[in-house]
Parts: sequence; structure tokens; C-alpha cells
Amino acid sequence: MATDTDIPFEAALFVRAEQVEARLRALLDDRPLSGEILRPQRLISAMRHGVLNGGKRLRPFLVLESAALLTPGHDEAPALTVAAALECVHCYSLIHDDLPSMDDDDLRRGQPTVHKAFDEATAILAGDALLTLAFDTLADEALGLHADRRAALVLALARAAGMGGMVGGQMLDIEAEKSAPDEAGIIRLQAMKTGALIRFACEAGAILSGASTADRERLAEFGSAIGLAFQLADDLLDLTADAGTMGKATGKDAAAGKGTLVALHGESWARKQLNGLVAQAHALLKPFGEPAAMLKAAATFVATRS
Ligand code: IPE
Ligand code: IPE
Ligand code: MG
Ligand code: MG
Ligand code: MG
Repeated sequence: MATDTDIPFEAALFVRAEQVEARLRALLDDRPLSGEILRPQRLISAMRHGVLNGGKRLRPFLVLESAALLTPGHDEAPALTVAAALECVHCYSLIHDDLPSMDDDDLRRGQPTVHKAFDEATAILAGDALLTLAFDTLADEALGLHADRRAALVLALARAAGMGGMVGGQMLDIEAEKSAPDEAGIIRLQAMKTGALIRFACEAGAILSGASTADRERLAEFGSAIGLAFQLADDLLDLTADAGTMGKATGKDAAAGKGTLVALHGESWARKQLNGLVAQAHALLKPFGEPAAMLKAAATFVATRS
């Protein structure tokens, strides 16, 4: 439900999305970088189709706002590039998630999925290249961060995206269609498939700012709380929203017998749980005071978006 306080947040999200879009466009240039030979036209077109297509850019927003919280007035260029790199990983995860062998979806962000607009092999390769591009971008000296911070970002993103994070969560998600996990199992699965990248988004702002370990951990915990809230809201929207609003098919989780908390405990339990997660996220931000207002609004947005 929209309230007055949502309006400044959504405007801020939109401004950030435009900035990130410009950075993504630059990363997906036709021209090869040093060490590359050629960027095949079909591949780069498919990558652009999967990336430059109007996502909410929530994860980049979290990178930018967590960095701004810890180092107000800093040069935003490195944070913007880290935000774009993370969005490349997220978009790769969506391209592969939509493949016929995974969720088999035809619609994403209101447009044909990459394998529909191109073909399956091209979609797989576009995802592979986006994942690699993200790590290229973080490792590059051009990022404008000290080598120690670049290495820390590479490591944290690898842990969040890989077998013990997003990819591992996607594996558990597929297995959960055959044998339904219990509540703890579902929470772990969701902390991996969705939570890990959102947690990284919040932690990345701390890493690139050179924040204290305590602040880094607090922001990471905030990311975990809103990550769980985010997937819970996505599962609720899958049940209650229509494809036109969402820009992707809905009603698919129940049809596929997906192991979700909504399937296990029902809608009203899920809404209560969602409120609890937002309260937990807000409590984690308390020590940062008023400067954390934008992150606080992000937590509310995650749970109330429609
Ligand atoms: C969709 O993520 C996939 C999930 C993890 C539920 P988003 O809802 O952030 O999708 P975009 O990036 O805005 O399209
Ligand atoms: C996707 O979860 C999570 C990742 C892409 C890692 P879903 O399968 O629920 O996402 P949607 O609903 O297709 O966006
Ligand atoms: Mg899926
Ligand atoms: Mg899906
Ligand atoms: Mg979903």
C-alpha cells in the first residue's frame, strides 16, 4: 500500500536506477577491453537485452546507500561501478533462472526472456559472460579502489554468488520441488538463492568504504533480514499479483509445488513474518541514526511493494 513516505523513496530509487543504467551501458560497450579479442555482436546484444531492461535496481541501490551511509560525501564513482557489477550477477541469475530447464519463463521485466528473444544457447552464454564481467569489473584497477578493497569485494561476491550462496540456493530450490523442506530448510534455501546477493549489496558499501568490522557485520545482517523479506514478498506476489503488474509470470510457485513459506504456513502468517523481518532490519539500523533513513525506507519498500 502506498503511503506518503514511499514517494521520496521511490523517487530516490529511480534516480539511482538511472545512474546505474548509464554505468551498465558503459560496461556493455561493443569495444573490447585490453586482453579481449572481440565482443561478438549477438552475445553483447543478448547481454544488453538481459540487463538494460528496466529492473528495479534494488541491489545497486543498497550498495550506493550503504556506501553513502558510511562515507558521506565520498566520490561515488567506485560505488556506482560496484553496484553495476552486482547487477550483472543478478541479471545473469535471472537469465539462467528463466531457462526452460529451470523455471521455464517467457516474460521478464515485461519483455520476452533472453532465451525467447534469442535462443537457449545464447541465453546461457549471455549469463556466463555477465558473471565473468562482474568479476572483471571488480578486479580492474579502473575501479579506483585500493587493491585490498578490490580483492575483498571479489571474495565476498564470489562467496555470495557461488555454490554456498545464490547458485547453491537455486540447486536447493529445484530439489525442494521433489521433497518439501521444513521451515528451517526453506529459510536457508531462500537466504542462499536471494538473500546472499542482497546481503552482499549491503556489505559491499561497507567494504568499499573501509568501514569497521562491526559496521560491516551490522550492514550485512541488515542485508540478510531484508533479503529474507524480499523473497517472502516475492512469493506472496507470486500468489496474489498479476503478470502485467509484475512483468513476469505469476501463480507459478504453487503450480510447480515450490517449497515456500507461503505454501507451508499460508498468506497471513507470511505477512506477519514479513513485518517482523522489517522491524528486525530497522532495529539493526538504529545505531546509525538519521543518516540511515534511506536504508530504513528500503527495508519498508521490500516488504510492502506491490
Ligand atoms: C527477482 O528480483 C528475483 C528474485 C530474487 C525474487 P527482483 O524483483 O529484484 O527483479 P528486478 O531486478 O527488479 O527485475
Ligand atoms: C529467483 O527466484 C532467484 C534467483 C534468480 C537467484 P524466483 O525464481 O522466485 O524469481 P522470479 O520469481 O522468477 O523472479
Ligand atoms: Mg526460480
Ligand atoms: Mg523464477
Ligand atoms: Mg518468484
